[in-house]
Amino acid sequence: MNLEEVDASAWSSLEAATADPQSGFRFINLCSVDAAGRPQARMVVLRRVDTVARLIEIHTDTRSPKWLELSRNPTVTILGFSASTRVQLRLAGVVHLHSAGSELAEKAWSGLSVWPRSTYAGGPPGDEPRNLELVPARGEADGKAFFGVVSFRAESLDWFELRRADNRRAVFKYSHLGAVVASRWINP
Ligand SMILES: Cc1cc2nc3c(=O)[nH]c(=O)nc-3n(C[C@H](O)[C@H](O)[C@H](O)COP(=O)(O)O)c2cc1C
Repeated sequence: MNLEEVDASAWSSLEAATADPQSGFRFINLCSVDAAGRPQARMVVLRRVDTVARLIEIHTDTRSPKWLELSRNPTVTILGFSASTRVQLRLAGVVHLHSAGSELAEKAWSGLSVWPRSTYAGGPPGDEPRNLELVPARGEADGKAFFGVVSFRAESLDWFELRRADNRRAVFKYSHLGAVVASRWINP
């Protein structure tokens, strides 16, 4: 594979993960920086990929700590690993947040089935669970107000392939519009 093919394969495997729950990149690590400057990481589901624009979409609850962190500091790293291909993708970039009522959140919500919708109808993430017997059950539609889309735009990719004797590593930089503006092999 040349550098162009490495970049294309990385993004096509991300795209494939949006449709295949068994894909290695289905669950990715979203890493942010909190108000105290500490790194924070959590697994999220890769929901949508736009290779041309280098965008990755993630769904979350706007009451979660990560939403506040990302609104204060939109600098993010996304880390993924596919055990089948032994490829690590480390994407650095920035996020834009789309909360309830925005066009993107409306569109994403309309594409969700009942089960993922219902995950937003519970109490605020991180809070102590309330006694369920005392709380009236809420329908899946109630979660809509807390549903948000995190849209990540990659500024760079650090690609690493783990091979027995000869690991390989390459880095790519993307323009605002998603074009590759620099790429090179580096020592693993
Ligand atoms: C496999 C897996 C997938 C997950 N997917 C999501 C997701 O798509 N969105 C999300 O907000 N949380 C997801 N979570 C939960 C997060 O990892 C995290 O625990 C939660 O969102 C709270 O994060 P925060 O306190 O940093 O806001 C997932 C957890 C696991 C284990």
